[in-house]
Amino acid sequence: MKTMIHPNSTKRTISVAPMMDWTDRHCRHFHRLMSDSILLYTEMVTSAAIVLGNKHILLQNEPAEQPVALQLGGSDPEQLAAACEVANGFHYDEVNLNVGCPSDRVQSGAFGACLMAKPQLVAECIDRMRQNSAVEVTVKTRIGIDDLDSYEFLCDFIAQVSAAGCRSFTLHARKAWLQGLSPKQNREVPELDYERVYRLKRDFPQLEIIINGGVTTLDQIEQHLQFVDGVMIGRAAYQKPYLLAEIEHHLLNPDKPLLTRMQIIESFFPYMEQQLSQGVKLSTMTRHLLGLFQGCYGAKLWRRHLSQQAFREGAGIEIVQQALTLVRGSYTHVT
Ligand SMILES: Cc1cc2nc3c(=O)[nH]c(=O)nc-3n(C[C@H](O)[C@H](O)[C@H](O)COP(=O)(O)O)c2cc1C
Repeated sequence: MKTMIHPNSTKRTISVAPMMDWTDRHCRHFHRLMSDSILLYTEMVTSAAIVLGNKHILLQNEPAEQPVALQLGGSDPEQLAAACEVANGFHYDEVNLNVGCPSDRVQSGAFGACLMAKPQLVAECIDRMRQNSAVEVTVKTRIGIDDLDSYEFLCDFIAQVSAAGCRSFTLHARKAWLQGLSPKQNREVPELDYERVYRLKRDFPQLEIIINGGVTTLDQIEQHLQFVDGVMIGRAAYQKPYLLAEIEHHLLNPDKPLLTRMQIIESFFPYMEQQLSQGVKLSTMTRHLLGLFQGCYGAKLWRRHLSQQAFREGAGIEIVQQALTLVRGSYTHVT
């Protein structure tokens, strides 16, 4: 029997991490079907793209997805502030600044994890963003970068940025190596150090501290919540999305019955049909569904059918129905 987190939970007690190319609006819509209360993050959107690009395409956010936090990438305080002003019109529940991504592309724009070395600039960004944002501005960061990896360095960073008014920090509990490791390696090679994040919460009790990195089970979530205010889940939420239904039922909302995988996918049909009618390709939605039956009989048939058939020209909802029939046929008690 799991400990119920509700009713003392805040909106950030459990969240799904921002993930480029993964947590787009179709993915968020799918995830929301499994949980009413988990906070969902967008992919990172750069402030330059928002200011100069197609705002509607970049920021489109349906009421059915909410609560959703918009993650911004950037390091120009004025441009970030301008992006926040635009975002006010799209009803996000939070704006988050990315100070954790180590990719070369992001570094060449001088933002992401490399900003950890410039706490004063991050503080300035937060200050300007807060002036223009209708919602709370938060930071997602690492526990260090390169040789700037002492606990004192981290405390100094948090102290300077929180002095600018940021009250909520999400910490990916490993440092980033800015040279020599790919973003993927930077999510695996540097060791996780949860204790450092717990210590940060002890030393900054007035701040909301959310832990991120390597969380895959309900037991791990419960463990972390003894020491920090919230848990952000990245890859596990995407690769095994049914985890979100389990979190909702076992940890957050006991009144919501544990949905079956079949119920979840059937409740996604109206959305898929509506999007298809607007010209959205089936595969752009079904690619987020591939992990739903992970660990069940038929998972491989499900994945294979969707991967092979959904991208075909004119593919419609019948492809998903066929994949479901394959799952049903391979297992009589799929939940
Ligand atoms: C495909 C992918 C894309 C990501 N994109 C972003 C991003 O846009 N912004 C960000 O702050 N972190 C990004 N991350 C990092 C995740 O938010 C998270 O911090 C990381 O995966 C560690 O959490 P996990 O071990 O639960 O996956 C990305 C991770 C993945 C796997």
